[in-house]
Amino acid sequence: MKQPNKTTWLNLPSMGLSIRMLFTGYLLTIGFGLVTAGAQILLTHGMADGKMGLSIDDIVYSYYGNRGNSKLEAKLNGSMKDKAPEDIRAKMIHWARDGASEEAWEAEIKKEVTLYCSGCHGSIPGLPVITNFDVMRETAKSDQGASVDALTRVSHIHLFGIAFIFFIMGFIFSFSVGIPKLLKEATILLPFLFLILDIISWWATKWFAGFAWFTMIGGIGYSLASSFMWFTSMYQMWVLPYNGKDYLINSWED
Ligand code: HEC
Repeated sequence: MKQPNKTTWLNLPSMGLSIRMLFTGYLLTIGFGLVTAGAQILLTHGMADGKMGLSIDDIVYSYYGNRGNSKLEAKLNGSMKDKAPEDIRAKMIHWARDGASEEAWEAEIKKEVTLYCSGCHGSIPGLPVITNFDVMRETAKSDQGASVDALTRVSHIHLFGIAFIFFIMGFIFSFSVGIPKLLKEATILLPFLFLILDIISWWATKWFAGFAWFTMIGGIGYSLASSFMWFTSMYQMWVLPYNGKDYLINSWED
């Protein structure tokens, strides 16, 4: 039931200075935090594929890993390229890609390593003794992306921490006026859904590289929604009150 004249001050442009100060202080701090978060994403993930800027490959490398790329393979195509003939190197690379099994090691790899590599590895101090299976297997390990440990840790920090941010932001934004009802409701709910999508997609990407797209969609989705809430709230608190109009609207009543 409508109760006229009672809560018509309940909207951002009509609120008193003290509550606007509180909201603004929070939004400024969060805004600053979001900028540093963006910079952090660019620095840690943005460079994962060796190129500047965030791309799908960065997300794939971060979560799924760069599975074709073991240290052994990189060296055999790099500084160890002249140490063994082409076909021997190809054999070693296949062995690494196939998971570096002990059977194949005993059957064919060990003797090639002894023949071509042990002249240095095993005699020059400081070089890994790759005639030893465990040492060689270590160099043959591919980059498996994010570990389950790291994902669990980062997931729960993100879910709890960011949910708080979206809650308070959405709370402030809920006092905005003049936003179409559906748009306002969606803007408040969507960041949470995008956040959940984002976190689930990290896990999915760890096993299926194709899910990296959902990480991108989730991140862009909640960035857009929260930027919209941020700017709208600031504008309604610091521009609208000074344009000479009265806003006699209960922003929570729809
Ligand atoms: C003439 C000496 C020599 C021979 C022969 C040689 N290596 Fe090396 N290897 C080195 C040196 C020196 C380094 C360190 C510098 C570098 O990483 O390029 C190295 C580094 C490596 C590394 C990286 C080790 C690490 O942990 O950083 C791998 C893997 C490797 N070699 C594999 C091989 C394989 C496989 C063969 C045989 C096909 C081989 N090497 C033959 C001298 C040699």
